[in-house]
Formats: sequence, C-alpha cells, structure tokens
Amino acid sequence: MTDTTTLLARRNRALGAGAPLFYEHPLHIVRGEGCYVYDADGRRYIDMYNNVPCVGHANPVVVEAMTRQQATLNVHSRYLHEAVVEFCERLAALHGPQIESVILSCSGTEANEVALRMARFATGRRGILCTDATYHGNSELVSSLSRLGQSRSSNPSVRAFPFPEKFRPIAPGLGEDALCDAYLEKLNDAIAELQASGEGVAAMIVCSILANEGLPDIPAGFMPRAAAMVREAGGLVIADEVQAGYTRTGHWWGYEVTGFTPDIVVTGKPMGNGLPLAATAASRALVETFRARTRYFNTFASSPLQAAVGMAVLDEIEQRDLRSNVATVGAALKAALTQRKGTSDTIGDVRGHGLFIGVEMVKPANNAPDSELATRVINRLKDRGFLTSNAGAFANVVKIRPPLPFSQADAAAFLLAWDATIAELVSDRRGA
Ligand SMILES: Cc1ncc(COP(=O)(O)O)c(C=O)c1O
Repeated sequence: MTDTTTLLARRNRALGAGAPLFYEHPLHIVRGEGCYVYDADGRRYIDMYNNVPCVGHANPVVVEAMTRQQATLNVHSRYLHEAVVEFCERLAALHGPQIESVILSCSGTEANEVALRMARFATGRRGILCTDATYHGNSELVSSLSRLGQSRSSNPSVRAFPFPEKFRPIAPGLGEDALCDAYLEKLNDAIAELQASGEGVAAMIVCSILANEGLPDIPAGFMPRAAAMVREAGGLVIADEVQAGYTRTGHWWGYEVTGFTPDIVVTGKPMGNGLPLAATAASRALVETFRARTRYFNTFASSPLQAAVGMAVLDEIEQRDLRSNVATVGAALKAALTQRKGTSDTIGDVRGHGLFIGVEMVKPANNAPDSELATRVINRLKDRGFLTSNAGAFANVVKIRPPLPFSQADAAAFLLAWDATIAELVSDRRGA
C-alpha cells in the first residue's frame, strides 16, 4: 500500500497542487459501507459529512440497480425509454402541482445553469438575485454568484443581498419582524438596482435552507415574502435543493422548512448516491420554453442508467422511511448539541434541520467567528474517527451532514467524541 506522503506527492503532480483536500493530515480511504468509511490501514470512520451517498456508502440496492441496468442497456437520451419517463414523472410528483416536467443533467452546476437560463428565457430579463455568501456551482455564469460578500459580481446582471440571519443580525436590537423587514429592504434595494440598470429581474436563486451561508436561523416570514417581492418584480424563484433536498431536513424539500413555493427546483448531489445525476424541475411551460430555445442535450444525462439508479435511491428513501430516521435522530442530536452550548463558551450557536446541523464556533471574549477553532475541532474529531468539515460565511461552522441512515448509536458515539474534543481544546487553551 502506498504511504500517505508518497500518495500526496503523486496526487499533487497528477492532479496539480491546489486540488482541494480535507484535514491537516489527509485521509486515505479505500472502502465505504453504510455510514462508515475505512482507511488504508483498516480503521473505521463514522461519516458525518457526506450527503452524496445519501442512502449509505455501497448501498446494495443501488449497486444492484446500477449493475443490472449497465448490463442491459445504457445509452444517450434520444430514444424512447420507459424508465427515464417514469423517473421524471416520479420526481416531479414529489413537489406541488406547479412542478410538472424535468430536465436531467449530471451536476448541480449544470442544473443551476439550466435553471438560470430558463428564467432568463421565460422572463426576457437577465438580472439574477442571490445571497452574498452563497455557492451554487462552478461554471462561469453560476460561479459569478459565489461568495460575493460586499463586492460586486464580475457579472453585471448579478446582485447579491445579505443573507438573512438571527445570530449575527444586520442591525442590532431589532425584534424578529423588524429584522425580517430590514433584510427585505436590502433585497428590495438589489431589485431596484437591477431594474435601474435595465437588466430587470429574471430570478432569485436561493438554497432553501441557506446551507453554504452556514444554515442560519432565518427571521420568520423572510423566504415567502422575498419570493413574493421577486414575483412582483416579474422574476421567478429558484430553489436550489442540491444540499437541502431528498429528506435531508426531515422533510422532502428544504423549501417546506423555510415556507416558500419555488417556480423552479434544482436537485443534485444525493440523487444518484454517487452516480452523477441532477435535475431542473419546473412547469411544463417553463421547461418547454427552455427546450425550444436551446435544443438542450447532455450526453450522460437522461440515460437508462440515471433512471435506474435514481429510482433505486427513491425506493430506498421511501421503503426504509429514512425521512423519519432523519427527523428523529437529527432532532435528538441537535438537542444534545444545543445543551452543550450552555456549558461551552466556544459554541456560539447550534442550528439546522434534520440531519443537517451546524455548530458555530466563536471566540469567548467577543463571540467573533473562530474558524481556526472550527478547523481544530474538525481535525481532532477526524483523529477520533468522525468525519465532519467546516462551512458558513466565516468558515467557523462545524458542518454535520451524515448519510440519511445515520443511527442513534452513531450519534451517541459522536457526542462522546465531541465532548472529549472540546475538553481537550479547552485544556490546550488553558495550557497555552
Ligand atoms: C447549494 C449547492 N448548489 C449547487 C452546488 C454545485 O453542485 P455540483 O458540485 O454537483 O456542481 C453545490 C455544491 O456544493 C451546492 O452546495
């Protein structure tokens, strides 16, 4: 077996140095099963990060469907195939009646690109609204929305508004309603700028639970009121469910949690349990407007293989009732971590929904974001056999987002590791 140092040097040459890697001492994993992955020395880690293998690593039902279909037929989409139609029908039916038709693709980026172009074609306008700490993908158009902060996008038709949150609110001392109004005012400013510049409003795109922003608690009413304002300005509302969807929150869709109705829904990561599979879903009229303007074709998308695997993932979620597991285990884990907030001055906040929890690490003196501490927590948890990472506008949120079958026993083991990690870091701080 190649040792880690040699493999890292080879990787830097083969992939180019700078290809992202997690952890101070990178993890060399060779196998996965359910919620566990195993490193090259056979050590087991509990996976508390990966949402792509949503129904578990090496899920046998998915593997069987994948193998069977690949051994039967796998070809591009310009033929009739019943399973492809059935999968798109099944996917659309998981939303409200406004969602009727689906365009399949191979990544969240592609699906978001389709959604943005669809909104532009349908409205005849170009302006795109997004939050100031978002990430929706890596193409030229979609990456022009990434983590803009106070700066302007390189793309003149993009305007960012501050993401709504209660922990570090945009103005101090406001009640929840007034805070919601303050954020909506910022959205209104962004809409007005797009209108004044002649771009107009084609769409607002938001992750339904603001995952990359750090899973903030959003002032009540913000999302539905924001959606109404965007529609009033003639734009469409795109829910990016790449992270939030597929029962991650204990509900099928993140927009059910934050209370709005999208015109276009984008899904990706968990759909294929690792097989590249993504979708842009909307009304038939919107989808057909896009199709008429583009003759969109995507070689590996809408294939019998995508359909077979996509159906197997839906079967697993439904037949094992993973949504209930997410709701139960997630609520207990969040409650346990929230309890710890009361006893640790380095935990500023615990947030999230279902099996998607963020723990915000702060400096005790002033509650300022402490990304270094979050990084230390993540690395020490990894040394104890638990995989997490960091997220959020300040990269100081420990991100917990395990595969959906994550169990109470796994959660209990994690809490022991969490307590030991925090105690160790507190003792390091005292000794420093
Ligand atoms: C909310 C969100 N949307 C879209 C994407 C892009 O998906 P992909 O990496 O499959 O292109 C990501 C990726 O992290 C994401 O977090």
